[in-house]
Amino acid sequence: MSNAPIGVFDSGLGGLTVWSELYKRLPHESLIYYGDGKNCPYGDKSRDEIIGYVDFAVKRLLERGTKMIVVACNAATAMAIDYLRSTYDIPFVGLEPAVKPAAEKTRTGVIGILATAATLQGRLFKGTSAKYADKVEIIARVGEGFVELVENNMENTPEAVETVRKAISPMLDKGADQIVLGCTHYPFLQNALSIVIGDRKVELLNPAMAIEKRAETLLSQFHIAASADNKPYYEFMTSADETYRQKLIDKSKSLNL
Ligand code: DGL
Repeated sequence: MSNAPIGVFDSGLGGLTVWSELYKRLPHESLIYYGDGKNCPYGDKSRDEIIGYVDFAVKRLLERGTKMIVVACNAATAMAIDYLRSTYDIPFVGLEPAVKPAAEKTRTGVIGILATAATLQGRLFKGTSAKYADKVEIIARVGEGFVELVENNMENTPEAVETVRKAISPMLDKGADQIVLGCTHYPFLQNALSIVIGDRKVELLNPAMAIEKRAETLLSQFHIAASADNKPYYEFMTSADETYRQKLIDKSKSLNL
């Protein structure tokens, strides 16, 4: 048993979509969120750059005594999870696009994957998609401009709808009935996605709940879950300024908690 906090990390605001699941389903656990606002977005950065940013953030979280870190960022997982697991002696929960559930659920045999360039280039995504490539048609696209819309609080604007339309139209035209949200920022664009999808029968797959379950499993496996009488606390940290930290707090509150 441990009442130490869990660290939750993302390049920016996106990981809050995972944070909110942890907050709701692990009510005894203290959470420290780190948003790397200064270096966001990660999607178009090199592996070495991303490893450097992630390593810096993880060190800050470890200084705060975190017992486990949830890497609530597909791009950071794709580029840095092997490094983190071989360098630090605590459990890390990583994220990868939910190709498997999409491939199992599709009825049309076509699935769309939306993610950043870093995630689509990663070994994890390449391996999983190769595994399903003979069973389903996979249309993978970078959500060009998605992260910037979310970081600038523009997800509910006509511009967001047009940006989403550009990215997902090729998937919809080919009959995709599953669209995997392979970046934790993308669930914030749910409204724009729904507008573009219209009345087509398309399911959006957000891995946040699966990650929460994985975190729960690891807490129990490592015997580090908080006690039932623990009074949890919640903190927000950032590499950017106080305005950005406040933005993290405000955005976390917008998630219907
Ligand atoms: N939220 C991150 C992810 O899940 C990446 C966003 C970015 O910094 O490009 O991949």
